[in-house]
Amino acid sequence: MKNKVQWGMIGMGVMGTSLSRNFAQKGIPLALYNRFEKGKEEGVAELKKASYPELKSAQAFENLAAFIAALAPPRKLFMMLPSGKPTTVFLKKLVPLLSEGDLIIDGGNAHFEATNKNARWLKKGGFLFLGIGVSGGEEGALKGPSLMVGGDPKAYALVKKDLHLIAAKNKNQKACCAYFGPGGAGHYVKMIHNGIEYAEMQLLAEVSALGRVFLSHTRLQKALKEWNATESKSYLLEITAALFSYSEENRPFIDLIKDQASNKGTGAWATAAATALAYPNTLMASALHARFISAFKTDRETYAHTFGDYAQSLDLSLSELKKSYDLSRWINHHQGFELLSAANKTYNWTIELNEVATVWAEGCIIKSTLLEQCIKHFEKNRSLLLSESFYELLKSGKAAWKKTLQQAITSEIAVPCMQAAWTTFSALKTKESSANLIQAQRDFFGAHGFERIGQSEEELQHGPWAQ
Ligand code: 6PG
Repeated sequence: MKNKVQWGMIGMGVMGTSLSRNFAQKGIPLALYNRFEKGKEEGVAELKKASYPELKSAQAFENLAAFIAALAPPRKLFMMLPSGKPTTVFLKKLVPLLSEGDLIIDGGNAHFEATNKNARWLKKGGFLFLGIGVSGGEEGALKGPSLMVGGDPKAYALVKKDLHLIAAKNKNQKACCAYFGPGGAGHYVKMIHNGIEYAEMQLLAEVSALGRVFLSHTRLQKALKEWNATESKSYLLEITAALFSYSEENRPFIDLIKDQASNKGTGAWATAAATALAYPNTLMASALHARFISAFKTDRETYAHTFGDYAQSLDLSLSELKKSYDLSRWINHHQGFELLSAANKTYNWTIELNEVATVWAEGCIIKSTLLEQCIKHFEKNRSLLLSESFYELLKSGKAAWKKTLQQAITSEIAVPCMQAAWTTFSALKTKESSANLIQAQRDFFGAHGFERIGQSEEELQHGPWAQ
């Protein structure tokens, strides 16, 4: 028993390797496992052990039974595998080798309903289970990721100390790791993180689509770098400014990349999850659909030829563009947090919004100054739209926001997320909407009934229309 360790990392891909190094650097001993696949994955764990000095004392395995036997129960197994079928297939092989009380962590981008299912199944077998959303990419996993935990609270109590050690720390040295509820709650928070990530990335793509019309590439790059020294600071803005600075043979490197964006599915899950709650997530959905549209390159070429491409002129200033970007981001974050509140009600979770903002403020892909502002705001208030900072930004930026959209439409430049942000904001502040007409139409053709103003909600009314 003496030489046995409790932690085992499963899956030595980019994320699994970086997390293992992070554990080892924090003085947490662990064993490493990667599957053996002839000609494709041979000696992977051993190779990682040999590549990084901090992993020198870790035992490396490619035989699953030997790996499990080398760990001291209760074992703590951190799985970093592709989500979906690979995880399910692996769990089926793993479970018969375990002892009651062993703890399994799924750190992949699993769908929260799959995590709910696994939680129920593993509990029946007497195992502890956590579904943890891990964000931050390779660097975050190594230097401190953001960890969104869901599952059995007893399991969390067993690993909380170690998870806090490896997690990113915010400005007050608080770990960016929190428990959000049973089953798939942690993976749900991660899914919404990714939805926000999609829209944040798309907003920057829209800034660049507008910026390239009235600015040189160098000026746009410099502007983004300057913006990142203001309250607009975020990791995604920082990397966008950085990647715009690369060139090859005097051409911006970005111009050598095909304009067709792909995705691994979490943005689509977030969009579907919001639909399931009947909660609007117009920015996430717009960002997702923008990626879908980008994929139809041949169609875009045909339509550009038929209808004409966008115009090469724009009456816009950098300051106007920045204000539109900043305001759209507030709507994006507002929708993400509101979605989590809606999920709390539906799934009986108690996800605290300021805890989420704390976990997201550092370590993850959407980390930003705006999220730091959110932490403070959610300590006392709810809706982000009622925050003093948003109000001030709106006061100084509303005209610029409208002008940016007018200019984008005039020049026929697609800015779906900025437009969705504006439209959603306008709709949210409309006291008397035109939805009464929708109700009347539903009643006219389908006798669906409507609530009449000033009358009890219990009994639906019908209109005087004759068919
Ligand atoms: C993170 C990221 C990550 C995500 C990739 C790719 O938080 O570290 O969200 O988990 O998988 O960004 O996502 P897409 O392929 O869907 O863009």
